[in-house]
Amino acid sequence: MKRVNIGIIGLGTVGCGVVKTLKAFPEINIVQIAVRNKNKKRNLDSLDESIITDNAYDVVNNPEIDIIVEVAGGVEPTFDLLKTALKSDKHIVTANKELLAKHGDELFQLANDRNLIILYEAAIAGGIPIIMPLKMTLCANKISRIEGILNGTTNYILTKMKENNESYDDVLKEAQELGYAETDPTNDVMGYDAAYKICTLAKIAFNSQIDINKIYTEGITKITDEDISFANELGYTIKLVAQASVNEKSEADIRVHPVLVSNDNVLAKISNATNAVKLCGTPVGEVCFIGPGAGEMPTASSVVGDILILASEIKNANNSKSLSLMMKTGNKNVTQVDISNTINEYYILIFAKNNKGVIGTIGKICGDNNISIQTVMQRGIENDNMAKIVVITSKSQELDVKNAICDLKNNESICEIKSLIRVLN
Ligand code: HSE
Repeated sequence: MKRVNIGIIGLGTVGCGVVKTLKAFPEINIVQIAVRNKNKKRNLDSLDESIITDNAYDVVNNPEIDIIVEVAGGVEPTFDLLKTALKSDKHIVTANKELLAKHGDELFQLANDRNLIILYEAAIAGGIPIIMPLKMTLCANKISRIEGILNGTTNYILTKMKENNESYDDVLKEAQELGYAETDPTNDVMGYDAAYKICTLAKIAFNSQIDINKIYTEGITKITDEDISFANELGYTIKLVAQASVNEKSEADIRVHPVLVSNDNVLAKISNATNAVKLCGTPVGEVCFIGPGAGEMPTASSVVGDILILASEIKNANNSKSLSLMMKTGNKNVTQVDISNTINEYYILIFAKNNKGVIGTIGKICGDNNISIQTVMQRGIENDNMAKIVVITSKSQELDVKNAICDLKNNESICEIKSLIRVLN
């Protein structure tokens, strides 16, 4: 049996899952594994210590290796390591969404110049097959919209906060113990992880260059159990949703932020670390991919799938063009629109004095700023004589809503604008 030689960079949660999964595939030979700390205890039964190195450059320069599998994450030194690997004529499998969002174009160019392939199924939505279906199976489509729950950690946190009334901090700790959250959970809870993922999906779907720095990104750290419960009373669930859409004028609206999702929407039903990607395309219509978006074994499933696909490509050297669609890079120009120019419905939680006419005041301020109100709900009044008023607006321009918030804050009847969350339509 001809074996394909691989080198692995990173032996954390995903790396260990990859090594375990590869035990079933003797045609793949792990030649070397680079780790940061050789003494770290790992959740692996038997590991040949002689293949472990703490110098990742030994792996990317190793002439015996055909494929570099990068599951270390981060941009430095990974970017340089992968460039070195490509210059040493190695194919790449990576799970690194941050690197792809920030430097993917340069890596793909380098790979294409050398007729090499980079596969990255694990980088987006963990165990869900989405990259290859989007690049290959759905290639006949014009994709106009993507909506996704792309971060398992935040979905897990929001689910548990809703179901069990648990605190944000306690649930975050559980998510880390389960291996969903990144070592530094900032990327998850601030929405950066989902932004990296939607950036790459939008590049593929719209066949264009997308600037990660122009993606509006807002995390879940300000969502309270009160928001979750008010939203629920009104028939919504709060989710962190990554969205990308493009119109006929090639204006792309790409963003990540919490939204109130109507409980009728399939995204409202996606719980725990499950991810979902909804695509709208012509001629296919709407398709939705749902599955485990994070964690050791689901992510390993995608990484090992990519390794096996590349291995078969390498063995089949005479037929090396079957992955040419995977190598295609975006060449269209789109303009990324600023969030202030977008139109949305909004949930606004207002703490107001229990004064006569306060609802009228809120209505007038909204009206004066071109905002029509769809729903008003008042809860309270508690001992402090303060009313909690929830407003859901009709579709309004973001800039008008920001102006209305300023006017509300300046009104003497209003104590605080507690929350402002967009509604997904
Ligand atoms: N930390 C990510 C998540 C998993 O929670 O979805 C890897 O992308």
